[in-house]
Amino acid sequence: MNKEVTEAKKNLQKSGFLNIAVDVNMDLFAEIEKLKKEKNAIILAHYYQEPDIQDVADYIGDSLGLSQQAAKTDADIIVFAGVHFMAETAKILSPQKKVLLPDLKAGCSLADSAPPELFRKFREKYPDHLVISYINCSAGIKALSDIICTSSNAEKIIESVPKDQPIIFAPDRNLGSYLIKKTGRDMVLWNGACMVHEIFSLEKILKLKVRHPKAKILAHPECEAAVLEVADFVGSTTGILKFSQRDEAQEYIVVTETGILHQMQKENPQKTFIPAPPNNACACNDCPHMKLNTLEKLYLCMEYEEPEITMEEGLRLAAKKPIDRMLEISAAAGL
Ligand code: 13P
Ligand code: SF4
Repeated sequence: MNKEVTEAKKNLQKSGFLNIAVDVNMDLFAEIEKLKKEKNAIILAHYYQEPDIQDVADYIGDSLGLSQQAAKTDADIIVFAGVHFMAETAKILSPQKKVLLPDLKAGCSLADSAPPELFRKFREKYPDHLVISYINCSAGIKALSDIICTSSNAEKIIESVPKDQPIIFAPDRNLGSYLIKKTGRDMVLWNGACMVHEIFSLEKILKLKVRHPKAKILAHPECEAAVLEVADFVGSTTGILKFSQRDEAQEYIVVTETGILHQMQKENPQKTFIPAPPNNACACNDCPHMKLNTLEKLYLCMEYEEPEITMEEGLRLAAKKPIDRMLEISAAAGL
């Protein structure tokens, strides 16, 4: 191994990724395809990844689809183009596989809003409650939960629980409030939120609607209640994409992370998709965690097989139980 690579590997812990210069003349798309075949690797990408990464992925999906793929793949290496809790979920489901994340620092503000030690104390206050946790949480929170859910199966998961069973829902208070309205269940909520979805401005969305009166508003359930109330459709990223394919309208205001627009536009080239604006002049509708992954980092992590997700076996087994429960309920519901 040359000196530059040894140095970059030593620094991996600090930077979160292999900081090695990539030749600007290299055809990264071709190199990544070559590495996939050589190493029997599969690239799973979330819709919030940059377009180049989506274009090189073997599977693009929402959190539920990605975990289903991670559980069933026969690849030797899973390259997870997403954030840490997603790659961690892949490792929990496929421990015998090497799981790589292009940038280990690709975290999630929502997952960070629920530290396991605080959550353990919170849960102790409600000893008869069942804990349903949104997949956007750490393995430590999953291990303290009874069932995991994603934005595409949350309603079905809640409905699978007997009506007289009290529930704690964590960590997203916006998704939790939305589910209370949808299911009529009175759940205790953990007070967490996603930094991207809570920053959309209702006022700016309504102004956009005045300029584009025929546009339909499509929103992710991590948004605040006032935004969800004006939406024509509320759903997961896959749900939003599918709605835009089957719906008749020609214009949409999209209230979720901007990465989804790439597939929406590709699948519906004749339609117009307008990203909903955040409440200030920043680019806060781009998830800063998701966007830490780049095509260069993806190539480097495949070439050098680092950074890798590892996990202590006791934690993995405890976190797997509620995920398995989710996958069983989803399969029974045909999701
Ligand atoms: P879904 O993938 O379930 O649509 O959730 C979006 C999200 O915020 C992922 O971090
Ligand atoms: Fe987490 Fe929000 Fe980014 Fe999704 S969009 S990874 S919930 S911070």
